[in-house]
Amino acid sequence: MYRIAVLASGRGSNFAALAAACRSGAITAELVGVFCDRPGAGVLQRAAEFGVPAQLLELKRCGEAAAFAALATVQPDLIVCAGYMRIISADVLTPWVGRMINIHPSLLPNYPGLHTHRRVLAAGDVESGASVHFVIPELDAGPVLAQARVPVLPGDDETALAARVLSREHPLLRASVALLASGRVAWRDGRIELDGQVLAQPLQLDAQGRLQPAAA
Ligand code: GRF
Repeated sequence: MYRIAVLASGRGSNFAALAAACRSGAITAELVGVFCDRPGAGVLQRAAEFGVPAQLLELKRCGEAAAFAALATVQPDLIVCAGYMRIISADVLTPWVGRMINIHPSLLPNYPGLHTHRRVLAAGDVESGASVHFVIPELDAGPVLAQARVPVLPGDDETALAARVLSREHPLLRASVALLASGRVAWRDGRIELDGQVLAQPLQLDAQGRLQPAAA
């Protein structure tokens, strides 16, 4: 069975979406561990509810390399960063490149980093969304596998826009991880291949929660 580990820092709604999909069989995979850098984070409670083993990353006490060694012991095929709010150093990350994805709440390459919704609103954009991308040492800059788009509506504030984006993050992450677990995606020479072809444009989530090729 395909083995997935989750790295998270916060409330854990993306983790819960994945865990529910693994439980229902919508994703053919096993969640083998949650790794969290913040004591008391909601994701720890969510992991307990789903019966997924959770570990606190002792970054301050042990250092990042030792903390990530714990992650290696669960032998994941894929690491999903789902609201993991730290930058991972290149040394620790390099062995996992091609096997680690992140969900980011903007349409990358637009708005890498923090406060995406605030910046989208300040720019007056009419559209925003979320991206699932492979993690490379440069922040939020790895090749994008898939995106979900939402409108920015008149009167939106950060809270309203964040909620609209989050409601699409969950199906986006589910569909992306299901695709990865299916074995149809490969990482070759820093590029994403789907069914043996280089993916030139990120897949797009449709209204039914399925990933479609980008319109030409
Ligand atoms: C999500 O918006 C994700 O895109 C961002 O952090 C948030 C995590 O939410 N990186 P949750 O912890 O999955 O509920």
